[in-house]
Amino acid sequence: MYPNTRLRRRRHHPILRDLLQETHLRKEDFIYPLFVVPGEGIKKEVSSMPGVYQQSVDQIIKECEECLKVGLKSLILFGIPETKDSKGSTANHEHGIIQKALRAIKKEFQNDLLLFTDLCFCEYTDHGHCGPIEGDTVLNDETIELLGVQALSHCEAGADVIAPSGMMDGMVQSIRKALDDNTFQDIPILSYAVKYASAYYGPFRDAAESTPQFGDRRTYQMNPANRLEAILEAAEDVAEGADMLMVKPALAYLDIIREVKDHFNLPLAAYSVSGEYAMIKGAGRLGYIDEQKVILETLLSIKRAGADIILTYFAKEVAQWMGQKV
Ligand code: PBG
Ligand code: ZN
Repeated sequence: MYPNTRLRRRRHHPILRDLLQETHLRKEDFIYPLFVVPGEGIKKEVSSMPGVYQQSVDQIIKECEECLKVGLKSLILFGIPETKDSKGSTANHEHGIIQKALRAIKKEFQNDLLLFTDLCFCEYTDHGHCGPIEGDTVLNDETIELLGVQALSHCEAGADVIAPSGMMDGMVQSIRKALDDNTFQDIPILSYAVKYASAYYGPFRDAAESTPQFGDRRTYQMNPANRLEAILEAAEDVAEGADMLMVKPALAYLDIIREVKDHFNLPLAAYSVSGEYAMIKGAGRLGYIDEQKVILETLLSIKRAGADIILTYFAKEVAQWMGQKV
């Protein structure tokens, strides 16, 4: 107790402050999301996400080179297809947008990059929901069957890790079985286990053109008010064979990240979503905050909360700064 204890003693010398730092950000912690569109020579900025682009496969290859240059090696791909239908069937096509992107990236970079794919149907359905619907409900058991098919086609095209994001019950089990039955027993599953029905996804839906055409996702994504339910969701996915868990969004759910981390021994990812990115970028542009410092502090807070891995649109610029030693 004071005056014997003076906690400020440990903060006087900058090197001592570094020495005593408990949490660190590393480039290896990041997964960088990319949006792939059909066509050639396309690089179109997402209006609500400055610095984030929809890109055709040829541009994505250039993007991958830039990522490697700054030491960023884990990417997650989202596809925007040419055509949509009620079942999102282009999600499973051998020559679908994601499958094309996977093949092209693998051909160019082999194992220098780790490719995650977001596994869902909302970008591929004309109604924008995460699976086939009947009336206004998404059909759970039909969707998880189809997720198995989609997962297989991703693996066949070169995906290294499958990340199902649709919040369907049994999705991990169904995907695991489809992969195991088809020689992909070594492909891990990163489950979006705890995903809330969040307004923070707004800008993403511009980027991925996946806004639901009616209703919302509250019959499958979680109520932001719930904490105990997060543990039930994660426990299910652990039991079904998930290799890694995810909490999403990150910043408004730091308590949930800590909770899941304390309950389960699986590696934990947190998705710092589009709205988190847009808020910081927006305030930075207006000069209301020191953008770089706020970005680093925010990402650090997500790690401190318990995330081992962070999916973030800031990954590339942060990796760049790390090279320059900020
Ligand atoms: C698809 C999916 C979404 C995000 C990742 N995968 C959107 C949604 O569920 O509506 C959101 C990512 C972000 O906001 O950055 N199911
Ligand atoms: Zn979806």
